[in-house]
Amino acid sequence: MDVLVTISLDHDMLAPIEARHVVTAHSGHGPMDRDTLVSLIGDKEGLLCTITDRVDESLLKRANRLRVVANYGVGYDNIHLEACTKRGIAVSNTPDVLTDATADLTFALILAVARRVVEGDNMVRQKGFQAWTPFGFLGTEVSGKTLGIIGLGRIGKAVARRAKGFGMAVLYYQRSRLSPEEEEALCVEYADLYDLLGQSDFVSLHVPLTDKTRHLIGRRELDHMRPTAFLINTSRGPVVDEEALVEALEKGTISGAGLDVYEKEPEVHPGLLGKENTVLLPHMGSATMETRKKMAQRAIQNLLLGLEEKRPPDCLNWEQLKGQKIP
Ligand code: DGY
Repeated sequence: MDVLVTISLDHDMLAPIEARHVVTAHSGHGPMDRDTLVSLIGDKEGLLCTITDRVDESLLKRANRLRVVANYGVGYDNIHLEACTKRGIAVSNTPDVLTDATADLTFALILAVARRVVEGDNMVRQKGFQAWTPFGFLGTEVSGKTLGIIGLGRIGKAVARRAKGFGMAVLYYQRSRLSPEEEEALCVEYADLYDLLGQSDFVSLHVPLTDKTRHLIGRRELDHMRPTAFLINTSRGPVVDEEALVEALEKGTISGAGLDVYEKEPEVHPGLLGKENTVLLPHMGSATMETRKKMAQRAIQNLLLGLEEKRPPDCLNWEQLKGQKIP
């Protein structure tokens, strides 16, 4: 079958796909540009794509032979799932394998923004380390503080486990509450969104991007946060109204923000760039060699099984596809 791979993978990684299928693979470090994707999709039965490729109606209209979409990434807001299901296309993502890497980076952001790590590094490089002083680079203690986690899925739970090591109290908010046993095991306490915002020293976002979570954190929610608190986002940029965030940082409504994702990614709001109370990363939550390799292996496994019409382990729409007559 004909397969399009929009990321540049090592030869060893591509080999199992090439052994069974005719592969067109992207080369080069950047993402495959939209026009190339659109021009190549027409005769493909399989697509291994990344979170920057939009698999939307306009692409699907040209993808008459497409049967399988394997997303290299856990978030799949880049894919119009219902439109794929309607066309009989199996869609999968790469959960689990990036949980720890993303939770680690969440803590890197918490520590960096609270302890002014990037500011300190910049000063040493640009002006030199003049002298230790009792009042130099005073930050905010992380240990023993309250962490509010919005979205206690796999990554949110991994963040909660790390917070325990820092002696933090953990509040969480999501639509469905965990069982009392699970809450006890994770040492987390359920709170209503606005209670969580008002009580947390750090608010960390771990929800997928959906119509319901877009701008979940806006002006009103930021106003509920403490002026000493920090907002951390390693989920998806549009979960936060960036305009409102810039305003909150300027007015001192909150103390700072640690961001790995942006509303109009890869664009970063210019109002964020000059602020010392922000730490800004280029969407690198899952960027460890070990995790990226596992993501590739998982996406390839999903792709190959899907093309054999077997259930990919991470299929997102298998039940809906079952029984549906594939045109
Ligand atoms: C994902 O997988 O959704 C991350 O944002 C990138 O690895």
